[in-house]
Amino acid sequence: MKTKVPFFDLAVQFRSIENEIKSALDDVFQNQQFIMGPKVQALEEAIAHYCQTQYAIGVASGSDALLLSLMACGVGTGDEVLLPPFTFFATAGSVSRLGATPVFVDIDGETYNMDPSKIEEKITAKTKAILPVHLFGQCADMDPLLEIAKEKKLSVIEDAAQALGAEYKPNAGSEGRRAGQIGDLGCFSFYPTKNLGAFGDAGMVVTDHPLLTEKVRLLRVHGSQPKYFHKTIGINSRLDTIQAAILLVKLKYLEKWTAERQRKAERYQQQFENLLSSVKGFKLPTVQFQNRHIFHQYVIRVPERDRLRKFLAEEGIGTDIYYPVPLHLQECYSFLKYRRGDLPVSEKASEEVLALPIYPELTEDQQTVVVNRIKAFYSK
Ligand SMILES: Cc1ncc(COP(=O)(O)O)c(C=O)c1O
Repeated sequence: MKTKVPFFDLAVQFRSIENEIKSALDDVFQNQQFIMGPKVQALEEAIAHYCQTQYAIGVASGSDALLLSLMACGVGTGDEVLLPPFTFFATAGSVSRLGATPVFVDIDGETYNMDPSKIEEKITAKTKAILPVHLFGQCADMDPLLEIAKEKKLSVIEDAAQALGAEYKPNAGSEGRRAGQIGDLGCFSFYPTKNLGAFGDAGMVVTDHPLLTEKVRLLRVHGSQPKYFHKTIGINSRLDTIQAAILLVKLKYLEKWTAERQRKAERYQQQFENLLSSVKGFKLPTVQFQNRHIFHQYVIRVPERDRLRKFLAEEGIGTDIYYPVPLHLQECYSFLKYRRGDLPVSEKASEEVLALPIYPELTEDQQTVVVNRIKAFYSK
């Protein structure tokens, strides 16, 4: 019988911490405080500490973290926000929901993050912010981006949804370059399959700015302070106490889980070594500037991606495609009048990328099966 390897397997992780989770949940059930409260505050403090920021504000999802951060920076109708098209929809959707326009900047073909050399040409008098994404768990190249933002007086909001614990240029001697801490605000998602995943939706905004903190805190509760007195028009985006209780338990294991992911990435790297020279166009993830990559995803690149994916599915091996259609070519953005060929690096990547199983609980045997099946495909 063939060994099946699922793309991810949350149940194995749950079983390893089941008792702790149940006891944390029981606490919440006994207290009957389901919205905010001490557990949400404790999680905010723990995430701020982990991200090396002064403040963290719990919100209902990563998408809301982006929306609220943009609102706090005053982004609204008529403004433009620069962001990459090779990302999850929320990065652009949050901009559009505020009546602003996403302006897509092509990516670097090695890291899949926004190409800093292509930012300046997209800046207009309407540009209000830059929204880089730390895709797959590696920080975007932030130094040149920050320089441009400073010169043009633009806000920088990091979409760090996939990058909790990632570090930018950790060996450059500069302090505190954790994802989320580099720009004005950082946005995280605790969607269940993220490296730190809740049992539902949850998110967090981190920042070092007291004023922005105050704004996000206010905006997440319909702008009310005190209750029923509304200073501004916000939304309802609170982090559930149940999710906070679960995340507090899981956070204790995050470093260990990250190390496991990194070990698995290294193992893939070694085991695929010979395909790099023997298969034309076969590419493995590139780690830039010795960044601390947390491998939320392990994404390879192959020209015959769809055939390989089909073959692996038949062999019982789960894979996924992040992302099959770059955002500038999505139907909902046809009004922006982008054409195929406008952002060629993103378009090519969307045809060739393939995410392989990488989770802390993936066994060596399972990983070997994945590698061997891919090698079998190429030896056919
Ligand atoms: C890059 C990126 N941005 C934003 C989000 C939105 O987060 P959420 O699903 O928690 O709303 C996600 C995750 O789903 C993501 O991967």
